[in-house]
Amino acid sequence: MSHAIFYTSCTGNTAQLAQVIQDMLQEVTYCGVPDTAQAADADILFIGFWTDKGTCPDDMKEFLHTLQGKQIFLFGTAGFGGSAAYFAQILSRVQTEIPDSCQVIGSFMCQGKMPEVVRTRYEAMEPSEKRTMMLENFEKASTHPDAADLEALRACVRKYCMI
Ligand SMILES: Cc1cc2nc3c(=O)[nH]c(=O)nc-3n(C[C@H](O)[C@H](O)[C@H](O)COP(=O)(O)O)c2cc1C
Repeated sequence: MSHAIFYTSCTGNTAQLAQVIQDMLQEVTYCGVPDTAQAADADILFIGFWTDKGTCPDDMKEFLHTLQGKQIFLFGTAGFGGSAAYFAQILSRVQTEIPDSCQVIGSFMCQGKMPEVVRTRYEAMEPSEKRTMMLENFEKASTHPDAADLEALRACVRKYCMI
């Protein structure tokens, strides 16, 4: 079985997950930005995204739309976290972008730190419960993905991909 890894990552969080997956797999034909030609050659595709407006970014959507008859393991990072339901919602939105001929064999998400500019934006907000929550979440996200996230990812890949 050949494997290929495709991911989008602006600030490195999702790239960290991709690296962990690459280190686990035997036969990796490609690891990098979405590439339709490379996807055609692999049996199992590991597809990673950062969360943008509650789903994957547009370039990843375009890539997903081109896939046919592939087995896919989806992975991603999001600035908000702490709830499996939140991650499940994002994953189900991303799955709507995947053609029916493909099968999602597993998925994993964890929180990912956000750039300092986001904290500055939150700090500029009028004091409110929402502002406090956003700042607390920013702090919480600032250490992720952490070692426990990466170990959970390894366990998830082992479970679904039987490696
Ligand atoms: C423009 C922009 C939009 C974002 N939208 C969301 C969002 O809707 N939900 C969320 O949980 N995180 C959101 N985030 C946070 C990122 O998804 C998160 O920090 C992610 O780990 C970044 O991954 P990367 O380092 O691989 O780029 C957003 C970040 C940016 C810069």
